[in-house]
Amino acid sequence: MNEEQRRDGEQAVNPSDKKSAKDYSQYFETVYTPPSLKDAKKRGKEEVAYHHDFKIDERFKEMGNGRSFYIRTYGCQMNAHDTEVMAGIFMALGYNAVETPEEADVILLNTCAIRENAENKVFGEIGFLKHLKRDNPNLLLGVCGCMSQEESVVNKILKSYPHVDMIFGTHNIHRLPEILNEAYLSKEMVVEVWSKEGDVIENLPKVRKGNIKAWVNIMYGCDKFCTYCIVPYTRGKERSRRPEEIIQEVRQLAAQGYQEVMLLGQNVNAYGKDFSDMEYRLGDLMDEIRQIGIPRVRFTTSHPRDFDDHLIEVLAKGGNLMDHIHLPVQSGSTDVLKIMARKYTREQFLELVRKIKTAMPDVALTTDIIVGYPNETEEQFEETMSLYREVGFEMAYTYIYSPREGTPAAKMNDNVPMDVKKDRLQRLNALVNELSAESMKRYKGQIVDVLIEGESKKNPDVLAGYTSKNKLVNVKAPKSAIGKIIPVKIIETKSWSMDGEAVETQTMAGVN
Ligand code: SAH
Ligand code: SF4
Ligand code: F3S
Repeated sequence: MNEEQRRDGEQAVNPSDKKSAKDYSQYFETVYTPPSLKDAKKRGKEEVAYHHDFKIDERFKEMGNGRSFYIRTYGCQMNAHDTEVMAGIFMALGYNAVETPEEADVILLNTCAIRENAENKVFGEIGFLKHLKRDNPNLLLGVCGCMSQEESVVNKILKSYPHVDMIFGTHNIHRLPEILNEAYLSKEMVVEVWSKEGDVIENLPKVRKGNIKAWVNIMYGCDKFCTYCIVPYTRGKERSRRPEEIIQEVRQLAAQGYQEVMLLGQNVNAYGKDFSDMEYRLGDLMDEIRQIGIPRVRFTTSHPRDFDDHLIEVLAKGGNLMDHIHLPVQSGSTDVLKIMARKYTREQFLELVRKIKTAMPDVALTTDIIVGYPNETEEQFEETMSLYREVGFEMAYTYIYSPREGTPAAKMNDNVPMDVKKDRLQRLNALVNELSAESMKRYKGQIVDVLIEGESKKNPDVLAGYTSKNKLVNVKAPKSAIGKIIPVKIIETKSWSMDGEAVETQTMAGVN
């Protein structure tokens, strides 16, 4: 695909072309190519287009009357937040939200493409949902999210899952009303996957999950092109929301009584790099958000490469900026990092950690790690283990490398057998467990602030919440504590959580 085509999303599949499934697949071959690093790197530096004119067309306002929707979400918090936007659009169309797919008139699977097993889960679910279509022929089944940006996935659904009614991409979410309308009218599968990626669409409706913590997008896309990763292809190029839009959204959330915001982006440290009219980066944004009266502010995910000194300086001011940074390292070996195209060395990463710890001595660092990268040697894996200990990470998400079609790493020969990869994952996980347990132990007997989110999943008699460092605490406290930040005395610590008692409860018990 050339740049012109990439820019002009409308040239992609046009939903009003009523073609058969077979025709669509031919159409894809000409305008929609699989992920290609060469093509994607040609991404234009053209201005990001901001749209503020989202409106539900009068024609569609009654569409959802008497109908209900259910969205199943896979993948990262960005996907979960997209689900909130789609739920907002459904509600604006008059649909009701339901809790199970069995009750729904429209089911959407908001998918993730990050690893093969994520995709397999979705295909399993699409197959499983077929029986609901048999029971209710009017049911609409849609597939959206990152998998629908992959040509191979779209072709597989067209060929093997004809009971799917709609497929739409991550750049097409705001087109949900039109896509639904088309699906109701058409007997064929509706496919709308734009490769258009230069847009930021504001004022989309949102129905947020809960009223305690809220996600706020600060940027979209990723231009880092780590050699293993599918995200730059499924989410498009990096584009930042304007600071005033973000600040206004955070202010509104504060006014509505939210206790925490999580600022979202695939690589939030690249925030503002795409502004051509001003020098304004994540540090500047955090410095402004710091002054908004919302108790807790977090961000995810950081890329070590763009983590600048100004950001560290601002984070060190504390206040509502939490003392926890999720900083994916992926590997402790400079050679592996090089093949991953992470563009930092082991030493540079350790230097960044040193700077962060100097400015924020009590910071909690967590990370993501991939083991079993193509041709990873035992020594290189050991370097990951030693780096983990040296940094003293308090938690990690760990993965076995999964080849993603179209990415440079998928073409590499790999001499590491799967059982070796599994063994490395186990060894790493044992270390992750050990350091997590250690980080928890330090709190025994201490009083920490916990944002109480609700009943514990395991035991409804106990409440659960998170500390500023994002550690899970099960708390004995009255239900009235839900939604509040309360001091909790830690009684017991485990590998992944702590048990505690609300300090007020103890005092009250003392009085009685
Ligand atoms: N933008 C974030 C990561 C998003 S994906 C960042 O760069 O930090 C979340 C994690 O999934 C990554 O950090 C990586 O550890 C893992 N991951 C991504 N692609 C993968 C692949 N092909 N195989 C295994 N793990 C992968
Ligand atoms: Fe993927 Fe994160 Fe790398 Fe972007 S920075 S390519 S999202 S791992
Ligand atoms: Fe998955 Fe897409 Fe997120 S691939 S991790 S849902 S950006």
